[in-house]
This record gives sequence, structure tokens and C-alpha cells, in this order.
Amino acid sequence: MTGGAPGGRALSAPIMGRAEEPTVFELSSPGRSAWSFRTTGVPEWTAEELVPADHLRPEPLALPEVSERDLVGHVTRLSARQYSVDLGAYPLGSCTMKYNPKLCDDAAGLAGLAGAHPSAPAALTQGWMELLADLAARLCAITGMHAATLQPPAGAAGELTGLLLMRAWHRDQGRQRTKVIIPDSAHGTNPASVTLGGYTTVTVPSDARGCVDVAALRERLDDDVAGIMLTNPNTLGLFEEDIAEIAAAVHEVGGLLYYDGANLNAILGVTRPGDMGFDIVHMNLHKTFAVPHGGGGPGAGPVAVSERLAPYLPGPLPIVGDDGAWEWFTPARSIGRVHSWHGNALALARAYSYILANGGDGLRKVAEAAVLNANWLRQRLRGSYDMPYDRPGMHEFVASAASLKRTAGLKAVDVAKRLLEEGFHAPTVYFPLIVEEALMIEPTETESPQTMEALAQALERIAADPEGASAAPRSTPVGRVDEARAARHLIPTWDARPEPRTSE
Ligand SMILES: Cc1ncc(COP(=O)(O)O)c(C=O)c1O
Repeated sequence: MTGGAPGGRALSAPIMGRAEEPTVFELSSPGRSAWSFRTTGVPEWTAEELVPADHLRPEPLALPEVSERDLVGHVTRLSARQYSVDLGAYPLGSCTMKYNPKLCDDAAGLAGLAGAHPSAPAALTQGWMELLADLAARLCAITGMHAATLQPPAGAAGELTGLLLMRAWHRDQGRQRTKVIIPDSAHGTNPASVTLGGYTTVTVPSDARGCVDVAALRERLDDDVAGIMLTNPNTLGLFEEDIAEIAAAVHEVGGLLYYDGANLNAILGVTRPGDMGFDIVHMNLHKTFAVPHGGGGPGAGPVAVSERLAPYLPGPLPIVGDDGAWEWFTPARSIGRVHSWHGNALALARAYSYILANGGDGLRKVAEAAVLNANWLRQRLRGSYDMPYDRPGMHEFVASAASLKRTAGLKAVDVAKRLLEEGFHAPTVYFPLIVEEALMIEPTETESPQTMEALAQALERIAADPEGASAAPRSTPVGRVDEARAARHLIPTWDARPEPRTSE
């Protein structure tokens, strides 16, 4: 059935520069297709013969009709215009965008894993169930926790799961608590998850060291506090030195400690949230281990808990039955499912292969190299950028362009856009909110000393020569965009696009 968008543009464009890439609808030409079956032997049926008339569309759907050659050219040109972890360094603080070993792709692509249907009976998926159970056990060993669910598909989904576990546990203690404390440096998903979980956020300030102000925390602790959410190291890349005191104080009022595992890669094999006193831990497998992050790729945000919270975990979970075979079970007080099937299973398989390939000592080296790279770069850039918390940190650090803005008009966003011109991805900017003109830099452990040197030189050049930075990036396929307008005036469909398109 044809009815595609008219058009039929052709394109063979240079991969760099500003030449505009048409949408796939603009490349469409009626009657073209990217496939053809010559002799299938299967009788042809029309839609009218198979589908009742009242379920048929009056008009065919306007799908793009593009030849295989044009389609492959289109997606290849688009892919060549993307910055990616395979292309070069990606120092996007907090988000941890590091190179993912290809071994993990191979493991997740194994036919026995990729070909299994999630609803296949347990008797036919024993290998998968063992993999999931062993991954959960290893994540518990890494975090110092008792049991885990692998279902949540992202860190934020793990946060909501953790808060629902917190709620269920308090309910069974006969308590109706309403508040969850989070620091003023917290990631935006933390307060959002608190609200979704039915709690009210109470903010605790950071002190001059960049850590939780313990005295201010004590003032906020009462018997209406359900718990506290912390990431350690925190979003300034600093280790919360008072964590033992914080844990004791929160537990004293009957609250629970939630660990946002976005920064777990800083402490792998060195220390564990469970040993710090945390009760609930989410992990971002797509940051700490090897799962593509960003660009909408499937993530995985398993949640591990201490023994007293295990009966509330989402199910089903794999366990060994009386006959020695794997079977599914749902814990007695389960909060229910938080994702279909068993989570993003192939993302879990990637992380599993990463953990096995590194081993315990290898994971520790990951953390050590991440911390070394970040501290080297922070030290190197001290003369070029402000360092509001200028002391040894962990796997990332927060610099500031505040002085450069005052003296040379160079803002954090300009530094980020100039870095694109230098061939590196931009760091995270304007987060955490407590640092003016924040540049949050996480070089990750995967970059070599030579790449680190090149990144340092690029950042030094930008600070030393701010000329023209407000117009950057000047060499990328898309130039400086009006980000506020783009966020507020979303045009998510091709047919709603204003004509003609102007490049800004
Ligand atoms: C500190 C922190 N917490 C939570 C999250 C949320 O994780 P996700 O993006 O997997 O939902 C992020 C992600 O960027 C983060 O940096």
C-alpha cells in the first residue's frame, strides 16, 4: 500500500560542514521500498481481506518510501555527524559517558541471549535466569547489600522504585512519614522521584567543604522524615566525609538512607554504600559498567537493598527451587512490578560481561583510574578556571567560569560550545545549581594520558582566547541553537515544522 509523502529528494552530502540533511520523509518517493521479496511462495493478501473494514484507516499512513541505498546513506550521514563515546572523549560530568568495550556488545549479541523470548517458560530459560541471579548477587557484593531487583530501566526509575520500597517499609512499621531530605547539590531526578513517590522534598544545604552540612541536617531530622537521598561522592565529585555520622543520625529518627548510584564508578572495589550505612542503592549500569548511555539507548537501574527491605522488592526474581532448577518467585510483601518482563535484559547482559571481564581487582582499577584522571585534570586547570572546592576529589570535579565571565564575557555555555570545536564533547554545564557558571567535568577512566593532555590543552586555549566563543560552535553541522526556545517551543514532528527551516 503506497501513499508516502511526496518528495523524492536525493542527497549525497559531505559528512562534515553545514550541509543540511533532509528528513527521511523528504527523501521519500512514492513506490520505493528498502526491501523486495522475489518468490516467497506465500500467498498475497490485501489488508481489506484480513482486517474488518471499521478497523482500517480511511487513508494509508504517510510512511516514508525510501530505497535501501538512500536509507543507508541517510542514517550513515546522520551517524557521522554525531559525537559519540566511540569517537572521542566525552567529559560529561555526572552522566558518565565512557567508552564501552566491544566485548560487551559481543556478549549481549550471543544468539542464546538475544534470541530468547522473555515469556518463554523457566524450563527453557535456565541460562538466562542464572545470569540474572548471578548479576544480582555480584551487584550486591559490589554495593554491600542483601538482595536486588534488575527491573528498573534507568537511574530515575531506580529512584522511584527505591522510594516506593521506602514507603512500603514505613507503612509496615505503622508509620505515615511525609518528608525525604536531599542536599542542595542533588541531581534533578532526586526531588522529582521524591514527589512521584508521594513524599515532600526537604533540602539540606551544603557547607563550605561542599559536603552535607551535618548541623543543618540534624535541624531537619524528626519523626516525619522517611529518609535521605544522597550520592557519594556527591555531585561536586567530593566524598561525603561525614557519611557514618549522617547514617547514624538518620537511622536514629527511624529514617532510611537511599544511595543514588550515579557516581558508583568512583568507589568500585574500594568502599561500598552498604558499609556506609545505606539501606537502598540504585546503580546506573549505563554509567558505571558498560551499557550505552544517552541518545535514548536502553539503560538499566537495578536497586539493591538491605535484608529488612528484601521482602518488598519487585518480582518476579529468579531463585533455585527444591529440584535444583531456577524458578521465578515474587517476594511476600512485593511492591509489584516496576517494568515489563525482567528489565532491559540485554543491557543487563552487557553489564554482566563487563563485571566478569574486569573481575574484582579490575573494577577497583576502574575507580582508581577515574579518580586519578579527574584529579590530574582539576590540578592542571587550576590556573585557567575557578575551582570553587579546590581540594582532592573523586572521579569528577566542578570548575567555574565565573571569573572568565566577569573579565572576558566567557560563560560556561561558551566554554562547552568551544570545546565542540576542539573535537571534544562538552562537559555538563550549570549543574550542580550551587556553583555559578558550573562546568562539571568527568574525564572517566577510559581516556589515555595523551587524550587527557589534549583535553587539558583545549580547555586552556579556550580560557586564554575567548574571542568569538559566543558564536561557537562554528564547525559543527548545527551551530549555536537557542536552547531556551527549543525547550519551550518543541516541534517533534516533521509535518508541524515551520517552513522554510532556518539554521540558527
Ligand atoms: C547524580 C545523578 N542521579 C540520577 C541520575 C538519573 O539517572 P538516569 O539518567 O539513568 O535516569 C543521574 C543522571 O544523569 C545523575 O547524574
